Amino acid sequence: MWAGAFLFSLVCLYQMAVAQANMNHGVYTATIEPIASATTNRNSGVIGSVVVFDAGDGVTVGYGGFVEGLQANLEATTCTATNGCGVHIHSGTSCFNSTTQGGHYFESPVTDDPWVEERYSSDETGFALFSSVAVIGTSNLEGRAFVVHAEDGSRVGCGLLTELKDDTRILQANTVGLASSTVESESKAVIFPGTDRICVGGNVDALQPDILSFQAGGLDCNATNGCGVHIHSGTDCTDSTTQGGHFYNADVVDVDPWLLVGYERTNANGEAFYLQCLVTGEANNEGHALIVHSEDGSRLSCGILQFETTTTEAIANGMDGSVLSRLVGIGLLFEFIIVLATHW
Ligand SMILES: *[C@@H]1O[C@H](CO)[C@@H](O)[C@H](O)[C@H]1NC(C)=O
Ligand SMILES: *[C@@H]1O[C@H](CO)[C@@H](O)[C@H](O)[C@H]1NC(C)=O
Repeated sequence: MWAGAFLFSLVCLYQMAVAQANMNHGVYTATIEPIASATTNRNSGVIGSVVVFDAGDGVTVGYGGFVEGLQANLEATTCTATNGCGVHIHSGTSCFNSTTQGGHYFESPVTDDPWVEERYSSDETGFALFSSVAVIGTSNLEGRAFVVHAEDGSRVGCGLLTELKDDTRILQANTVGLASSTVESESKAVIFPGTDRICVGGNVDALQPDILSFQAGGLDCNATNGCGVHIHSGTDCTDSTTQGGHFYNADVVDVDPWLLVGYERTNANGEAFYLQCLVTGEANNEGHALIVHSEDGSRLSCGILQFETTTTEAIANGMDGSVLSRLVGIGLLFEFIIVLATHW
């Protein structure tokens, strides 16, 4: 009878944990393919990959990606046509034509179109790297169309978002506070196999409240590494020597690509959500330290990036490794008690 009660509470506990984890921090990806021009019927040649992170609050998403075949040298700040240089999630679930792609996707309580100012810049080869966070009022992302617009606002690329459940593509780092810091983060890095492209994002807790970075129009985070979240060259969190410096290959990328990567704001509780994509010149990020920096640039929290290959099913259920290990620990304890109870 005792054993039954213990088992029952264990099952309840498990279900509670799974329900909470199912508040979801899903990662979605889409492969962008060319859309033919409506007027010339010519294939746009636009291809790419995008990722979208669900922040877990039901209203916020982070999105980013890498798109090629665009017009060269476009500037987000001067690309002012309606939808010019836009990168948006659309409400439709097919890329077939503009009707099936739908319009910009957002739901109540969001009433103003959150996508109007979301734009990319392209380099001299027509390559664009972009990432941002948007409050869209929903996290119902599966199957939605991600649309890339040209300078004049026309639609030139489209792909459908599907949840990424491939644990060979998602590295995870649950970072813990360094020294006296209590800052924790649940961060994920999506890799694009065979490339040096990566998107890093996640949720951070216990930061300084009400930060607004200079990048988001505020005054904060302007110190070196201020509000940064970076992959470091080291593979151990013990101290700054074992953590190493920013992880990138200076022979491939000229400027440290991590310099402006991090969170751009925190709420009144010191919580942040971030997502940024970059090109590092490094293909193998597994085992490296991921570090969250404070507003003044000091190192606050560290964890090691790992493929969650040992907890595949847990990830499929939306449960993270730390919850799983806690549950396994509790489960073993209960089993021990049950064994005692049945043998005495
Ligand atoms: C898109 O395709 C559907 C189905 O063929 C059609 O009904 C609709 O009119 C098309 N929309 C546009 C804008 O061409
Ligand atoms: C950062 O911002 C603060 C507050 O606005 C200012 O006092 C400081 O000079 C700035 N530092 C740099 C390096 O821009």
